[in-house]
Amino acid sequence: MDVEKIISQMTVDEKIKLVVGVGLPGMFGNPHSRVQGAAGETYPIERLGIPSTVHADGPAGVRIDPERKNDDKKYHATAFPIATMLASSWNKDIVFEVGKAMGNEAKEYGVDFLLAPAINIQRNPLCGRNFEYYSEDPLLSEELASSFVEGVQSEGVGTSLKHFVANNQETNRMTIDTIVSERALREIYLKGFEIVVKKAKPWTIMSAYNKLNGKYCSQSKWLLTDVLRKQWGFEGFVMSDWYAGDNPVEQIKAGNDLIMPGKTYNVFKNRKDEIEELKAAYEKGELTDEELNNSVRAILNILVKTPSFKGYKYSNNPDLNSHAKISYKAASEGIVLLKNEDVLPFSKETKVALFGTGQIETIKGGLGSGDTHPKYTINILEGFIERDIKVDMEIAEIYKNKVKELRNGEFKPYMIPEFNRIQIPMLPEDIISDENIEKASEKNDFGIVVISRISGEFEDRKLDKGDYYLSDSEKTLLEKVSKKFHEKGKKVLAILNIGAPIEISSWIDLVDAILLPWQPGQEAGRVIADACLGVFTPSGKLPTTFPKDYSDIPSKSFPGTPKDNPTEVTYEEDIYVGYRYYDTFGVEPLFEFGFGLSYTKFEYNNLNIEKFDDYIQVSFDIKNVGNYKGKEIAQVYVKAPKGKIDKPFQELKGFYKTKTLEPQEIEKVTIKMNLKDLASFCENKWILDEGKYEIRIGASSKDIRLTNSIHLCRKEFEI
Ligand code: GLC
Repeated sequence: MDVEKIISQMTVDEKIKLVVGVGLPGMFGNPHSRVQGAAGETYPIERLGIPSTVHADGPAGVRIDPERKNDDKKYHATAFPIATMLASSWNKDIVFEVGKAMGNEAKEYGVDFLLAPAINIQRNPLCGRNFEYYSEDPLLSEELASSFVEGVQSEGVGTSLKHFVANNQETNRMTIDTIVSERALREIYLKGFEIVVKKAKPWTIMSAYNKLNGKYCSQSKWLLTDVLRKQWGFEGFVMSDWYAGDNPVEQIKAGNDLIMPGKTYNVFKNRKDEIEELKAAYEKGELTDEELNNSVRAILNILVKTPSFKGYKYSNNPDLNSHAKISYKAASEGIVLLKNEDVLPFSKETKVALFGTGQIETIKGGLGSGDTHPKYTINILEGFIERDIKVDMEIAEIYKNKVKELRNGEFKPYMIPEFNRIQIPMLPEDIISDENIEKASEKNDFGIVVISRISGEFEDRKLDKGDYYLSDSEKTLLEKVSKKFHEKGKKVLAILNIGAPIEISSWIDLVDAILLPWQPGQEAGRVIADACLGVFTPSGKLPTTFPKDYSDIPSKSFPGTPKDNPTEVTYEEDIYVGYRYYDTFGVEPLFEFGFGLSYTKFEYNNLNIEKFDDYIQVSFDIKNVGNYKGKEIAQVYVKAPKGKIDKPFQELKGFYKTKTLEPQEIEKVTIKMNLKDLASFCENKWILDEGKYEIRIGASSKDIRLTNSIHLCRKEFEI
């Protein structure tokens, strides 16, 4: 298609309709999308051969309705592990595979754009959407999100890198004004987006709800035109988040090319029809042909690549079985072993008692637009039984029956009409008697307690019992199981089926092992069972810090002021996010960034550093010196010299995950780091101070195995 020719043939009315979505499908009087459950569609211009395009969420799987009226067919899509678990894998290859499988499902269900990945920095553990995000560190986020984008787009469907930018909380997300320094923006909050845009070229970017230093992101020309296009060379189009902003004319003028989902006046009574507003502005000359054509061009240049434009005959029948295997494989790479005092792996002969309602209601992922509708989710009990683990079925039956009773009674899920979503009350954990715990501690070798959490879009988590802290009944259950099993010299394992950090310090001594499978997608029970059996050795490492206590976190201004109804949030910690804060200010975390145990042990040797014109290259050997096969994630931290500007104690500048190493096997690792990536943002450019840079090779941000230094000369890099 000759885009310029098409633009010349379009009427102004058609151009204006193309830059506004057709309204939230299936809601507020709008018809369903042709792909029912999709989040949005664009306006078709048949006479010019421009089809409508379909946009569907989300980061953990294609979110469409699994059932359609008058249609016996099912439209399930695979539930993959949450983004935080993908990040815990530190494995670019598996994340590419997940992206490719998700892209294939999008294509085969008729979706043109997958509204993912979401790479907002995990600034505070209470953000309700942390499960959809990768990490507290921009490098880990960008490396994995780039692989994801490449994977999805290799199937010929688009992605939407989101939410651009500094959308790090759900509290008042549509109006909150995020106040953040340009240095923190450039080095932390923008950095991930910058690298993914340059490296993976996402077809679209989704601008964020919040204001950034006083301006809605979707209406910020500095952000969407100056930074994104002029400085980074972004060639796709920008869409707004759903119902974001308050001025469609400003959005188009700023470079937000597509206003989604459209018809916001259907939902926000104080809103006017975007199309009418744009028309009026055009007629008054406030919106120029050039500005309108820029957005139309940006959209068409991408639209011509979509399956809908190409008339792709989608099957509605993606290969869910093979994608299930990819979901399992990704989860197996992201499961993190946090504590293990002679508990795991256990054998099939081991007799275990499973406690906790999460064994039945195992959480596959989070809520909101990041939710998924898989054909099944294997819960932990099912996974253990399927793998022939000797589970105490007396205890299991109690949980199965009690959960069913509670869910049909006092703890029945209910609809929140104004949000059109289901609220799932948290179940109590006082449903097993002391006698049954006593009996189980006699009959079984291990006690296993499942702690699960779910959170989602629209609201942040609570710094309260039952969320960040254990509930009273969870704590009591852990104490009773711990007492009874320890009295008999038997061990206790805690399984954390959570989407973001919870408080652990106060109860860690009650258990002998902690396994963190996050929210692992539909294959949950199988992955967790196989990790416990040692079918594979857990190799995940933390993409986010678990502080000793919430009061230790750096983001003290979360979620903003005034406390009861925040209108603005200032990122006072600036660049000191996550380990950058804990390491620099000497605050000891419970589990540090990059931490994860294995069933085996690794030795690091022979560090060699080479300096080239614009990059340095480190190489070293990793040897498996333990008794199990396993994978190791080596991390490269750089400690910059004290210079004019203050710097974090150290920053992650590279990482590498080995293949599975057999005992005694060695793998030689080589990692390259561009000098620009070691620079700091200062006075509108990137500055690499002269001096001695310490290269720190670690098994985690605190478990440093090899170090050496290198002298670098001062260098400046344009933005
Ligand atoms: C939501 C989310 C965004 C999602 C979009 C469409 O509000 O913020 O991540 O892609 O709307 O569902």
